Amino acid sequence: MTAQFIDRYQGNGRVLDDTWHARENIYESRLRLLHRALTTEDPGKILSIGIGSGIFETLLRDRYGIEVAEAVEPSASLGAEARGKGINVVQSTAQDYNYPGAPYDTIVYNGSSFGFIPDDEIEATFTRNRDVLAEGGRLVLTDVPRESALGTVLRLAQKYDIAREDVDDLLVGTSFFNLDTHAYKPNWHQIAWYAKLLEGIGFHNLQYFQTVLGNPPYQNDRVEDPIEGHEAGNYVAIVAQR
Ligand SMILES: C[S@@+](CC[C@H](N)C(=O)[O-])C[C@H]1O[C@@H](n2cnc3c(N)ncnc32)[C@H](O)[C@@H]1O
Repeated sequence: MTAQFIDRYQGNGRVLDDTWHARENIYESRLRLLHRALTTEDPGKILSIGIGSGIFETLLRDRYGIEVAEAVEPSASLGAEARGKGINVVQSTAQDYNYPGAPYDTIVYNGSSFGFIPDDEIEATFTRNRDVLAEGGRLVLTDVPRESALGTVLRLAQKYDIAREDVDDLLVGTSFFNLDTHAYKPNWHQIAWYAKLLEGIGFHNLQYFQTVLGNPPYQNDRVEDPIEGHEAGNYVAIVAQR
């Protein structure tokens, strides 16, 4: 049995779009990262899990002609925003979804959506994702790594309930400048933890891409193209093959 879903975005469906418009360079760097990760091969039939308000899927379609075939979002407020952008979204968590369109060529969790899945449910969820991927299909995860500068500030502020005034000057240049309204993931692990988990359940050929290499105050200063690796980025993509 899966844990009860807590909607951290309840009644706040505009927060992701508002953040995007306030920090457009970071979102552009994230879009290029996602595109790089999705196109290590022909992405084929794509399922997006935790699509949020559909910002990236809309940009992928408009900029690169890449369309998601299926989308899942448990938050009613965010799902409504994505539907407003013309995306067909099923209201469900990753754990409860029945994956009707299987097999998929690509399953993507963008923007740390897998970091909202409880730790004791993540292995079973990724195992299920593996099973509904076509042979050779890919799982794509993008995340703010726990070990990144941004991840370190956010996780410690969350865990120790650090006062806003002590982190605001660090976060003002990031897409977490609005911590009073901006929900973020409860579960934090280093990239190596996810790599071990994925390899343990049979994924292989792991590839990594990273972007937004600067420290938090400077993250919106310019747009960056992704580079390979995961050691320096404040946003990292993991691509794992079935
Ligand atoms: C930080 S938002 C990212 C949204 C979007 N992918 C983006 O990058 O803009 C995290 C998303 O994960 C969703 N989420 C939370 N728990 C989830 C679960 N158990 N299964 C799938 N998605 C979940 C949230 O509702 C939210 O839309």
